[in-house]
Amino acid sequence: MAEYDVIVIGAGPGGYVAAIRCAQLGLRTACVEGRETLGGTCLNVGCIPSKALLHASHQLHEAQHNFAAMGLNADSPTVDWAKMLSYKDDVIGQNTKGIEFLFKKNKIDWLKGWATIPEAGKVSVDGETYGAKNIIIASGSVPASVPGADVTVDEKTVVTSTGALELSEIPKKMIVIGAGVIGLEMGSVYARLGAEVEVIEYLDAITPGMDAEVQRALQKLLTRQGLKFTMGAAVSKVDVADGKASVTYKLRKDDSDHTSDADVVLVATGRKPLTDGLGLETLGVELTDRGQIKTDTHWQTTVKGIYAIGDAIIGPMLAHKAEDEGMACAEVIAGKHGHVNYGVIPGVIYTWPEVASVGKTEADLKDEGRAYKVGKFSFMGNGRAKAVFAGDGFVKILVDKETDRILGCHIIGPSAGDLIHEVCVTMEYGGSAEDLALTCHAHPTFSEAVREAALACGDGAIHA
Ligand code: NAI
Repeated sequence: MAEYDVIVIGAGPGGYVAAIRCAQLGLRTACVEGRETLGGTCLNVGCIPSKALLHASHQLHEAQHNFAAMGLNADSPTVDWAKMLSYKDDVIGQNTKGIEFLFKKNKIDWLKGWATIPEAGKVSVDGETYGAKNIIIASGSVPASVPGADVTVDEKTVVTSTGALELSEIPKKMIVIGAGVIGLEMGSVYARLGAEVEVIEYLDAITPGMDAEVQRALQKLLTRQGLKFTMGAAVSKVDVADGKASVTYKLRKDDSDHTSDADVVLVATGRKPLTDGLGLETLGVELTDRGQIKTDTHWQTTVKGIYAIGDAIIGPMLAHKAEDEGMACAEVIAGKHGHVNYGVIPGVIYTWPEVASVGKTEADLKDEGRAYKVGKFSFMGNGRAKAVFAGDGFVKILVDKETDRILGCHIIGPSAGDLIHEVCVTMEYGGSAEDLALTCHAHPTFSEAVREAALACGDGAIHA
């Protein structure tokens, strides 16, 4: 029986990063993955392919809406859908092969197949059993069903994010159930490609948990881009006949019943941990009532020597949260001091404009009864943004009223997903808005809007 110091189950961003760090720290490491390619949901059917389609469809939008104003003539750009899908597949291939290369470079054995844990210290893969002093479960998550509704996914007419990345054609009409991250990103793709997109959302605001002002601004901008929002609506069933779908929902304000028809329905009402088939019940690895694997602060489950990270445990289902946990868990196993600062995990929505958020929202601070100040700056006052048709949106920084320490930041605007990180670093060091404002920012860059928002926490922004 081959013996390893660590066997990681799952090669998504949590698992492959954990495996690489374990190997770098001198531990003999294997990683079990049953997919044909490494990289998990994120690289194969999630973050990366959706970004390829968002990029391609954004180029089309630019050609249709902004080229003429810049003196570029591309009157009627057309879409070759098959080619766009193969571009997306190429992007996936480049990334998944990159992980394979990193595994070889770090001498990590890829055990191909689906793992079970027959007992602590052992992992079985397709009938073969391996010894593992430590096991890290990084099995990820799968799409959740629509709560309380009768919906059958066939990945053709009624799809999850997986099917939405490989539709046979661009639908004339798409209904998206759920105005969360997946719904808005994929809804944006198909709206830009010419589909009529209706988003049906249970709550009265989009993107649950985001800053309320950002929620309103994003909904307004997406509506301007052609997405239709039906809010406060609980979907009860989806019927499919002759390849067309009909969605039945109840408006919460008056209990009235409605139906809406579409060629494709995207179910985007959240994801749930994937732990089936690992044998956790017999091992005594406990789950929460939401199916997440319980861990202590060192990612150890209720069974010694078995750890868990990423979407399978508590916390936001984000690739970068899983990566951080993967590195920290590897360090703990190697006898070091792995740590994740859960207070500084950014969240990004890759719509146009992008949305990025870190730390507390105003609603959080009000709930905590904390005295805070707001510094806000519009991208309309940023020269670079205006030059590239990206003046919509703003940066909002929340600071402690007494100490000026940054408590949160919410950005809607160009490259928001990149801009957020200087705020993350400042927060990581316990920095203040003044620290950010005193840092020289190159001109002309979008990042000046972040500095201006920091200045607005003090004596005032310059260009407001
Ligand atoms: P989500 O939790 O972000 O949003 C689901 C939405 O569906 C909620 O607004 C909810 O109120 C609504 N909903 C639930 N039941 C409903 C019903 N019966 N009728 C109408 N609306 C209903 O979930 P989503 O978008 O599926 O994403 C899943 C996970 O994947 C999230 O945790 C997200 O963070 C992660 N993800 C992150 C991305 C990123 O970081 N850019 C990209 C894609 C996914």
